[in-house]
Amino acid sequence: MRTQLPEREHPTTDQDRRAPPAPRTVLREDTTRPAALVMHEVTKVYDGAVAALDRVSLHVSRGSFLAVAGGAGSGKSTLLHCASGLDSPTSGEVRVGGTEIAGLDESQRSMLRRGRIGFVFEAYNLLPSLTVEENITLPLRLSGGAADRRWLRDLVERVGLGRVLQQRPGDLSGGGRQRAALARALAVRPEVVFADEPTGALDPDTGAEVLDLLREVVDELGQTVVMVTRDPNAAARAHAAAVLADGRVDRYCSRPSSGEIAGHLARPRRR
Ligand SMILES: Nc1ncnc2c1ncn2[C@@H]1O[C@H](COP(=O)(O)OP(=O)(O)O)[C@@H](O)[C@H]1O
Ligand SMILES: [Mg+2]
Repeated sequence: MRTQLPEREHPTTDQDRRAPPAPRTVLREDTTRPAALVMHEVTKVYDGAVAALDRVSLHVSRGSFLAVAGGAGSGKSTLLHCASGLDSPTSGEVRVGGTEIAGLDESQRSMLRRGRIGFVFEAYNLLPSLTVEENITLPLRLSGGAADRRWLRDLVERVGLGRVLQQRPGDLSGGGRQRAALARALAVRPEVVFADEPTGALDPDTGAEVLDLLREVVDELGQTVVMVTRDPNAAARAHAAAVLADGRVDRYCSRPSSGEIAGHLARPRRR
């Protein structure tokens, strides 16, 4: 049987009243500019048990660079897979350039990925038997899109690979391979480039060069980049950072600093 609380324990002022639960939706981004990517209340549950993403909402404006920072297992790769059509969410909405992709079947998602999305992975994922040039132009051949020769030439110059186009990825340093992977991601002029720990396998100086390039393609070429990372220094190169903890957006920082991100990663709000 429930007992009535003594009168003095009832809240008497607004301050005494318990605050309502924090909303799961974090939408403090600039939503006035056209969106390259919108995620609304996206949840991903694996095997009916593990909620790798829990009602994640994000708005990424065209021509902006968002970092999603989080520790191991916080849901970064899952977020990226659901946002890019590599996987489909359990519930929620994902829009890439206005197209709702959460409900697409695998072949439709595959078409979207080929023609409208670029990927950069930690392990580069270049094909070792193809030349650097063939790797860079592979997405164009797969999507059947017409090659924009001038765009490709500018891209190759920008990533500094003009002299090694006929070499194989195995002949390049880690930084060179990641720069080739970035050029490949941009070949189709995608609506969004998704990068999963793009500097995870690189030494700090080489990683910084790759981050400078990512920032450059946003600021100078108007591309949109969403990068997931556990490295606060990498996150600080983005225009904004969402901090992920236990599959939820824990904070949203505009103009993040590495110290701020490191602090949030060390002390997540929701545990
Ligand atoms: N295919 C999968 N099947 C079951 N659980 C998974 C799968 N992929 C990821 N997870 C779980 O989901 C959570 C988030 O994983 P992930 O997105 O890979 O995190 P991060 O990239 O931040 O390290 C983890 O608990 C992980 O074990
Ligand atoms: Mg991961």
